[in-house]
Amino acid sequence: MKRLVVRGRQAVFACLTIFATSPCAFAEKSSEYLVVSPDGANEVVVAIRAGQAGYEVRRRGEPIVNRSQLGFELVAAPALDGNFVVVANHRRSVDETWEQPWGEQRVVPCRYNELRLELQQQDALARRMDVVFRVFDDGIGFRYEWPEQENLTQFQVAAELTEFAMAGEPSAWWIPAFQREHYEYLYRRTPVSEMECAHTPATIETPSGAFLCIHEAALVDYPGMALKNAGGSMLRAELTPWSDGVKAILSAPCHTPWRTIQIADDAGGLITSRLILNLNEPNRIADTSWIKPGKYVGIWWEMHLGKSTWSSGPTHGATTANTQRYVDFAAKNGFDGVLVEGWNTGWDGDWIAQGDQFSFTQPYPDYDLPQLAAYARERGVALIAHNETGGAVENYESQMEEAFALYERLGIRAIKTGYVNFADGLPRTDSKGKKRGEWHYGQYLVRHHQRVIEAAARRHLMLDVHEPVKPTGLCRTYPNLMTAEGARGQEYNAWSPDGGNPPEHETILPFTRLLAGPMDFTPGIFALTYPELRPDNCVNTTLAKQLALYVVLYSPLQMAADLPENYAAHPDAFQFIRDVPTDWEETRVVEARIGDCVAIVRRERGGDDWYLGAITDERERKLSVPLTFLEVDRQYVAEIYRDADDADWQSHPTAYVVESRPVRSVTVLGVRLAPGGGQAIRFRATEDPPAGKTAARETLPVRPPVDR
Ligand code: NOJ
Repeated sequence: MKRLVVRGRQAVFACLTIFATSPCAFAEKSSEYLVVSPDGANEVVVAIRAGQAGYEVRRRGEPIVNRSQLGFELVAAPALDGNFVVVANHRRSVDETWEQPWGEQRVVPCRYNELRLELQQQDALARRMDVVFRVFDDGIGFRYEWPEQENLTQFQVAAELTEFAMAGEPSAWWIPAFQREHYEYLYRRTPVSEMECAHTPATIETPSGAFLCIHEAALVDYPGMALKNAGGSMLRAELTPWSDGVKAILSAPCHTPWRTIQIADDAGGLITSRLILNLNEPNRIADTSWIKPGKYVGIWWEMHLGKSTWSSGPTHGATTANTQRYVDFAAKNGFDGVLVEGWNTGWDGDWIAQGDQFSFTQPYPDYDLPQLAAYARERGVALIAHNETGGAVENYESQMEEAFALYERLGIRAIKTGYVNFADGLPRTDSKGKKRGEWHYGQYLVRHHQRVIEAAARRHLMLDVHEPVKPTGLCRTYPNLMTAEGARGQEYNAWSPDGGNPPEHETILPFTRLLAGPMDFTPGIFALTYPELRPDNCVNTTLAKQLALYVVLYSPLQMAADLPENYAAHPDAFQFIRDVPTDWEETRVVEARIGDCVAIVRRERGGDDWYLGAITDERERKLSVPLTFLEVDRQYVAEIYRDADDADWQSHPTAYVVESRPVRSVTVLGVRLAPGGGQAIRFRATEDPPAGKTAARETLPVRPPVDR
């Protein structure tokens, strides 16, 4: 048996890519290869045993993933699951940094050791398949690649056999896959052995207290992967099928997305891991000057509350007058965009069943699109075009080029797309003219979204995708792909029959859905109950928690989701939404307990100010936050937006306090969170003696930097 070892530390050189390929040509039925992360903590063993390829993962010697199989079943062709020999192996190490046009962290380090095994089947077909493993300090990624070859050209995948044999008896946070509402479910926590078929990202706590997240990176022209329970703690890749049951239609040369396992010693380490981005291709958009993170308001929440309608008629929300009102509000308060839903024809009747009726260029008569676009432009604001498709992608694609050209001419800079439809019900006409239904996250939709991203980029349009394919870090390659939904967002608080998102929901999202990429959660509701409109629903948080969500739930496009009049009622709290950036120099996690509480601090990009967001579930919590992230010897003013002492998400959700105090890096701040509450803080750098902030509601005297 041959054992080849890459010792990680040899690869550590700042800002330098080392490309050291060492082909080793031989053919063995059993062989074993070890790849170690640059810091030496993570180890992957890839081994061919009796012709079968498999891998294991350990962290500091502790088994994370036990021997797990690699391979495929094909349609009408022999499987690619055994009879393999290694014909060559290549190794290389990468240690570099790259800069994001926007993000949670401007400069991203990327360090890994890579092993590529060229496998060949020992039979008459002699088909080839490479497996490539990249081992980072924060986890691993691996993918399959099929080089160009005679006996494997066009082929169809019947099943991907990739296993994740989780060691011990870990527990997981997960949502069910292949259900009616795609990714829009509350997270469950169960032992891995009790998981049903689950979407990724699925987050796992090992018996020894390490945290993992299984997901995928760079999902292009391939179906989305779910995880099926294969008995005990064994999970197996479950690819989303086309409507005829085929999983993937491929043509060599090609490759799968990266299968990823992020690994961290604590839950916060998952949030600061950039593994998913690091496994995506670099930016392909040469000029990114038009891609700008920002904040927006919109004619949106009022529809979800039932105050106005998407459809035409006396309660139509997208009227010229109403839009002007939102544009004025946006301009006055420094917002970049105004989303208008229901502006285009097609909303009357059962729009989900009749998605092919939507026009993406024809406004309703009471919505003067050119005039409004100009009105917004003159005020330094841009309209955001809403493109709800009802999942009818053929209709959308037939209009896309013309619509995007129109939007560009009008100065529209972003589109919010939507694919409201259920389960495997997205209509597709097959090559025989037969109507079929597809899943939101199968290869058909993955291909569609790719076309939209590229068409939008050509017209300088940013994207916010609702009912998306889950993000997989493609925003690195296409930075106009700004944000997406892909989880239960704020809207569930307006109408969900189960009463909305429970207080723990937002304390789970940063460790699950948000690990995939930015989320358009649409925070910022101030009028937390709406008895006249929706007596059975409310927002299950305090007002201060709504503010903290701007820091906790990252999105480069963040909505201030409430109605202008509700912000007018709380100008002091609204100041935080006006101030908070959506683009960050760096991000740190100061408290991370999945499902209990989370506190994150971020430094604004291009500035010295820090922002903190801390949130809790239904329990009150008192955190102690050392401000060691602040610059040493520098004076800051902490502008604090906190729950009032009597605040409670159920009985007194809008009780908050705005206060200021001087702080320094040596300060240890007490951060109290009410039941269902939160706290948002701007740490404003100042050389001047700190002045007390004038707060409309309550201003506390400036106090010396001590615990409270
Ligand atoms: C669901 C989206 O998540 C929501 O934001 C939008 O308002 C509706 N669909 C209508 O398109």
